[in-house]
Amino acid sequence: MLAAGLGTRMRSTRAKVLHELGGRPLVRYPLAALAPLAPTRVVVVVGHQAELVRAAVLASGLPVETVLQAEQRGTGHAVQCAVPALGDFDGDVLLVYGDVPLVTTTTLERLRDTHRAAKADLTLLTMRLEDPTGYGRILRDADGRVCGIVEHRDATPAERAITEANPGLYCVRADVLVPLLAELRVDNDQGELYLTDVVGLAARAGRTIASIELERPEEVAGVNTRAELAQMEAILRDDLTRRWMDAGVTFEDPATAYVGPEVQIGRDSVIGPNVVLRGKTRIGEGCRLDGTAFLVDTVLGARVHVRFACTAEEAIVADDAIVGPFARLRPGTELGPRVHIGNFVETKKAKVGAGTKANHLTYLGDCEIGPDSNIGAGTITCNYDGSTGKKSRTVIGARVQIGSDTQLVAPVTVHDDAYVGAGTTVTKDVPAGALVVTRTPARVFEGWVARRRQVVKAAAPAPAKVAARAKPKPVAKPKARKKAKAKTRTARRRAR
Ligand code: UD1
Ligand code: MG
Repeated sequence: MLAAGLGTRMRSTRAKVLHELGGRPLVRYPLAALAPLAPTRVVVVVGHQAELVRAAVLASGLPVETVLQAEQRGTGHAVQCAVPALGDFDGDVLLVYGDVPLVTTTTLERLRDTHRAAKADLTLLTMRLEDPTGYGRILRDADGRVCGIVEHRDATPAERAITEANPGLYCVRADVLVPLLAELRVDNDQGELYLTDVVGLAARAGRTIASIELERPEEVAGVNTRAELAQMEAILRDDLTRRWMDAGVTFEDPATAYVGPEVQIGRDSVIGPNVVLRGKTRIGEGCRLDGTAFLVDTVLGARVHVRFACTAEEAIVADDAIVGPFARLRPGTELGPRVHIGNFVETKKAKVGAGTKANHLTYLGDCEIGPDSNIGAGTITCNYDGSTGKKSRTVIGARVQIGSDTQLVAPVTVHDDAYVGAGTTVTKDVPAGALVVTRTPARVFEGWVARRRQVVKAAAPAPAKVAARAKPKPVAKPKARKKAKAKTRTARRRAR
């Protein structure tokens, strides 16, 4: 697999194969398509930002080795760099470009199987495009046999009129490939060693060349520009949502659903508009996402209802839970069955027991809460000491009632069945079944409002003056304005 190029046409400082599609680097796609074929070995040629590309490739989890093409002297040169890594391998080599993300396992399998069935020396895929601009064109002889490939920029007008193009996927016997690579020359517009020239060289050497014309060229489209990346994102998105619709998932607006390639969605789930599902997110059966949600590496059980405008990252939500609207589940959140997390509630490293509710304006961080407890509005777990950076834990038992506006200063434990009165700052453990309350007694001043109103009225300017003021005001001279200000200031002082 060739992944060493910069991708000049992307106009980026980032290597092309690191640009993301569906939240995953381009280079990972062809690798994922290859994996089920269980190749004897996978060699990836890296060059531009070699370390980053290597890391992205290794993250695929496949047994991949990388070789360095220190200077990018063309696709043929890239394959030359990979030859030493092939060692004494004498089987069929599949050559794949790293910028062809939508290629499927089925197509790669078909390439390999056709190659073997035809006992060919070299087999390539081809595609018909209405506008093949930029792609290499397939040259055929009078008998219709493939006899070469000419790059767009090197092609004559007559060759440019050919609509059969080269998607850049080949299967070739190792013992045929290696000597042909040695014959490549830089006699082209870019002064590079072109892998495509191997095809012409093979034809001239009398090798058997087989070809397969693909019915769905969009599958093997290459990404060379940002516009193509965006087009591909749309195709990928469409493919993925279609696949999930076929599997029994409803999308209220497929055009605004962004489902990553590794996401799983259970049957009869309903995905509302503007929902982004990334990473290894798994949605169970019968879930409902109202809309505007951003879920990364999050697992929802069955029948979970995510109301409008929620975000979740590395969170686990059990069956029948209700989340949102406007909730934020941060990494380490584990919600038990039937938990309710309501509006403006943030959770982080929070394990919440079955049936527990935290419905309004609450922060639950570094805590564990038992089942069937109720966390009142405005509850805060004070987990951070503000100086050492240390985070402390709050533990809340089963059937606990936490009153509104409670601060739990961690480390602290509220045992089973305890009640915490509204407005309490809990700094010590609360025993099971106890009530804890810290409350300054309220002071009541009878008749205070009437007295206050009287004072304010006395200080107010005369009604006639008020009326005069309501008229369009001539621009006040600076002195007059100062006087008026002074007056209101005195009035205010008097009112106090
Ligand atoms: C290539 C083909 C063209 C085909 C098209 C299909 C050649 C000469 N041309 O053109 O016939 O229609 O793909 O998409 O092969 N790379 C390296 N080292 C290099 C140069 C490139 O590893 O020195 C890698 C790139 O990272 C990329 C792949 O090879 O993943 C293809 O290179 P790119 O420059 O995109 O080739 P195209 O111009 O698209
Ligand atoms: Mg390309």
